Amino acid sequence: MNKIDFNIINFESIDSTSTYLKKSYLQLDNLTLAFADYQSLGHGRMKREWVSPKGDSLLFSILFKEKDIIKNFPSLSLMSASIIHSFLSQYVEGVSIKWPNDVYVNGKKICGILLESVSMGEEIDVVVLGIGININIKDFPNELKDKATSLYLETNKIFNIDDLKNELLKHLSLLVAMMRENDKSYLNTIRKYNYLKNKLVKVYINGLEEEALALDINDDNTLLVDFNNEKISISIGEIICLV
Ligand code: BTN
Repeated sequence: MNKIDFNIINFESIDSTSTYLKKSYLQLDNLTLAFADYQSLGHGRMKREWVSPKGDSLLFSILFKEKDIIKNFPSLSLMSASIIHSFLSQYVEGVSIKWPNDVYVNGKKICGILLESVSMGEEIDVVVLGIGININIKDFPNELKDKATSLYLETNKIFNIDDLKNELLKHLSLLVAMMRENDKSYLNTIRKYNYLKNKLVKVYINGLEEEALALDINDDNTLLVDFNNEKISISIGEIICLV
C-alpha cells in the first residue's frame, strides 16, 4: 500500500483542527491533514466539548475535496472507525467499534470521530473528518472516569506521539484508498467488533423514544435493531444512548 502524500500541518495550539479546515478550505489542498498538540475549542458530535491535555492525544482532521471521496461520504464514519480499530489493535487488546462513530477499548471510549461538511449550494463542497484518540491521558474528570479511557490507562505504557503519527499515516493512506474505491470490506470489521451487538439501546422510532435490542450493521451503514420482535433499521441521528 503506497503512502498517500497528505499535506500535513502541525499546530502546537489551535481552536480546533476541524474548524480550521472548514474555515480555510478554499485556500487548502485536498487531503490537508491538520494535527494539533492542543485544541482550545475542540468539539464533538452534538456540539459537545472535546477536551484533551496538551500533547497527550492524537488530535487531527482531514480535508476531503475530491468528488470520488465525497460521493462515498455516508461510509466515511464507519470506515474511519474500522481503520482506527486496526491502528489501535496493534497496541492494545479489546478494541471495539460503537456504531455510528466511536471506538472503544474494554467498554470505554478511546476515540471519537466527527464528520462535518461544508456546502455553498445544494451539493457538498468539502468534507472534514475530525478524529481524537486518547493516548497518554492519565486521568479523566470524574464525570468521564467510567466512560473514557486512553492507551496509557489500558496498557500502563507511555507512547511516543510522533511514532504513533507515522504509523497512523499508513492507516489513513489505506482509508483514502478504500474511500476512492468504495471498498466495503470495512463492514466485516464493524460487524465483527460491533460494541452494540446484543445490547439494549434507546432509539427514536417513528419520532418516539423507544428501547430496542441492537443486532447488526446493515450494508447501508444503518443499525439493525429488534423492536417488539420487528426488525427495524436505525439511521445515524436516531440513536439516543445505551439503556
Ligand atoms: C465525538 O466523539 O463526539 C467526536 C469527537 C471528535 C474530536 C476531534 S479532535 C480533532 C477534531 N477537532 C475537533 O474539534 N474535533 C475533532
